[in-house]
Amino acid sequence: MTDVKIGKILRIEGLSLLIQITEDVSDRLLIHDDCSDFLVSINRLVYSKLPSGKIVIAKIAKIFDKSLFVKEDLFRVPEGKYLLDAKLIGIYDNYLKHFDSGINTFPIIGSEVYAVNNVIYNTVLEISSKYKLEIAESYHNRNIKIFANPDILLGKHLAIIGNTGTGKTCTVASIIQGLKRRLNQENKIKPKILIFDSNKEYERAFKSPEFKVKCIKKEEIKLPHYYLNYHEYYKFVGASQGVQAPVLKEAIASLRNGQIKFDFAQLPETIIEIIREKAQNNNFNYNQWYGWVSTMLNRIQQLIDDERFDSIIQATDTDLEEMLSGDDEILIFETDFDRDVLDVVMFLFCKILYKWTQDNESRKNILLILEEAHRYINEDESDDYKLGNYYIERIAREGRKFGLSLVVSSQRPSELSKTILSQCNSFIIHRITNRLDLEFITKLLTIDDKDLLNIIPGLEKQYAVITGEAFGYSDITRILTAEPTPKSDDPKVIDSWMESE
Ligand SMILES: Nc1ncnc2c1ncn2[C@@H]1O[C@H](COP(=O)(O)OP(=O)(O)O)[C@@H](O)[C@H]1O
Ligand SMILES: [Mg+2]
Repeated sequence: MTDVKIGKILRIEGLSLLIQITEDVSDRLLIHDDCSDFLVSINRLVYSKLPSGKIVIAKIAKIFDKSLFVKEDLFRVPEGKYLLDAKLIGIYDNYLKHFDSGINTFPIIGSEVYAVNNVIYNTVLEISSKYKLEIAESYHNRNIKIFANPDILLGKHLAIIGNTGTGKTCTVASIIQGLKRRLNQENKIKPKILIFDSNKEYERAFKSPEFKVKCIKKEEIKLPHYYLNYHEYYKFVGASQGVQAPVLKEAIASLRNGQIKFDFAQLPETIIEIIREKAQNNNFNYNQWYGWVSTMLNRIQQLIDDERFDSIIQATDTDLEEMLSGDDEILIFETDFDRDVLDVVMFLFCKILYKWTQDNESRKNILLILEEAHRYINEDESDDYKLGNYYIERIAREGRKFGLSLVVSSQRPSELSKTILSQCNSFIIHRITNRLDLEFITKLLTIDDKDLLNIIPGLEKQYAVITGEAFGYSDITRILTAEPTPKSDDPKVIDSWMESE
């Protein structure tokens, strides 16, 4: 092996190595840069040989100048001017070319330390699955490809987080494009992907004939109210428990008349009929009854009059089921609804989807992509919105069993439903600067990954820390370029203010 020697081990303390740089790599010393020529920089890997012939691998966590601690004699050539603090991460078998994370043997003090070569680095990053999906390049060396196990990445749940404009939407587009372009086996695949596109960005990223795409406009998303059950109707119209809920139930039952479908617009007059009848048959008069149900009647009338709810209240059918069983590979739903409409839309959509997946066992797995997910699965707002998270959380918990998985993309992880985030197995983390969100992420990830967390506020756009079950190893990466990109270009304020001649 012609590896470059960089130093020797001065101290071993727990999983930390203190390494003295003995070789002249000082001109190649660097704290933080994406140039691949530097041997020694934060998060790069180094190794030392074990008596067994295997080698132990460590990741550089700190680099510092020894003179911070020791006064050098001015007239002596300073040997070992720099020190490294590196964390042991695993053991590599030179003969089997195999890496195991975790440490069972420790190196010997004074042992030589080398910079890890690309062969070892690739093995550390390698994943052992039937399918491998190339998703990124290593931050340290653009020639090193980073793969994910797509069965885990897209079969369990994936969270993509980061500030606005750091690359979340492009990352999603790049991964999906990769399914047709960068799987390790040249198989034809026809995925089934549903995208909740809250900013109308995705259409541009997926072009036929590569993908069979269907875009569904906001007005075309027909989600008939009659999929709600009684309890859900109470929440939808805000019926109080005492009088309103039972009256509403009676009205719906009479309109349904044994069938599931009914005309929502007939509810007010049916309710009036019911209370008229009641006033004749008991001690309370019509005005009393009316007083009790009037707030509910008002809310029902508001919903009927509100055009934004037309596709829910006036829809007599849904073509969602047809779309799910059709042969479109990517369904892009335009979901820039107002928050109150979105609440009902998400609820009905997920309820119908959930039921459909349960009823249709012999079907493709479905990937549901939730863009700007904090908008509809927001933990803090769950009290304000009546229907909200219930079915999404259910999909997060049980969906995998029915071949239904989630990609949750958000700039506010700390606001997202904890139930949903805690079900995610893989994470792609772009730059995050908000302290609350950073703290939240720190808690969410395993101890091992914490060194990487310090890098997160400084990531450039398109760069991301990847961690979790779908990846061989947690690392800083540059996500492969989406081509074409979604329609999410950075704002062009000045151009728009420019005077045209
Ligand atoms: N993987 C990528 N491929 C191509 N361009 C990217 C990529 N990641 C980020 N970008 C650039 O960054 C900009 C913002 O990315 P975007 O995905 O819209 O961020 P976010 O969804 O986090 O707001 C894009 O317009 C694009 O120019
Ligand atoms: Mg985006």
